[in-house]
Amino acid sequence: MSFFTSELKKIDSGRTNKMDAICGKIGIITGGANGIGAAYVRRLFKAGMQGCTITDTDETNGEKLAEDVNKSYGNGKALFIKGDMTNKKSFECVFEEHKNHFQQLDVLINNAGILRDKTWEHMINLNVTATVRGTLLGMKYMGKNNGGCGGTIVNTASILGLRDMAGCPCYTGTKHFVVGFTRSMGNKFWFDLTGIRFLTICPGVTITPLITDAEKWVFDGFPGLGKVLSDGLGSQPPQTVDDLAEGLNTILNEGENGSIWVGEGATPIFEVIIPKIHDIKADSCRGR
Ligand SMILES: NC(=O)c1ccc[n+]([C@@H]2O[C@H](COP(=O)([O-])OP(=O)(O)OC[C@H]3O[C@@H](n4cnc5c(N)ncnc54)[C@H](O)[C@@H]3O)[C@@H](O)[C@H]2O)c1
Repeated sequence: MSFFTSELKKIDSGRTNKMDAICGKIGIITGGANGIGAAYVRRLFKAGMQGCTITDTDETNGEKLAEDVNKSYGNGKALFIKGDMTNKKSFECVFEEHKNHFQQLDVLINNAGILRDKTWEHMINLNVTATVRGTLLGMKYMGKNNGGCGGTIVNTASILGLRDMAGCPCYTGTKHFVVGFTRSMGNKFWFDLTGIRFLTICPGVTITPLITDAEKWVFDGFPGLGKVLSDGLGSQPPQTVDDLAEGLNTILNEGENGSIWVGEGATPIFEVIIPKIHDIKADSCRGR
């Protein structure tokens, strides 16, 4: 049994065959008011999540989702905190308020993200900087090195973290960052120190406003680029947010530390392995 398998068995030791790993656990989901994040909230409560902070800039939909959850699962189970993940103070306050309300944190899903090359500096602040900030805050609140009990951090990349897309080069770069960053956290050094498992989720095209509005948000000044993007995204197999949420629950059950998962086209989520450098030498790849 590998080191990570044995550690995962320990992480899994609290759950029986029928029980999902999230059962009884408390989470924070960023960008949780709409789209994929909101589907995660609903799916994980269905799987037995004990409590969750939903944080988002969208107060109206965030409050409404928390209210719906509380009606179904009991008052206080879901807490909405308005937060802008690009703002350091705001993100820190989310963790402080979460701690005051729940006194426990087991799972952080860094999900908030945008596909907007037109405002690329803001996009980098959210997709890249906030992912790092969220990860560091997750370690501060869950890390065994800080008196916590360990846990799981899921960072959100994309299939565009694993391939190219001419229509949105900057977004594609931000998601490559998430893959490289999270797999570099998901190893023995960081696990021994913090007791935290790091997973990367790479959604394929999932029907939300991020996809349906994408064409409007390409770099300014390049005629035809919007169509290049919509054709590129349109060539990928689509799925619903609920399809992807099913995949998230699966990886919380099964994902080993450092693993990278692709959920696309409404098929069961699958793990990918990044090849070693010498296996992708151009000379040998061209010969394939
Ligand atoms: N939809 C897809 O096809 C797809 C594919 C791959 C990856 N992803 C990733 O999945 C994640 C969720 O995407 P989605 O499709 O659900 O998008 P969405 O636009 O439907 O939802 C994003 C949510 O994030 C919130 N948000 C935006 N800026 C924020 C900020 N600064 N602070 C806090 N919250 C903020 C929005 O209010 C919204 O509720 C993103 O990281 C995205 O890059 C989506």
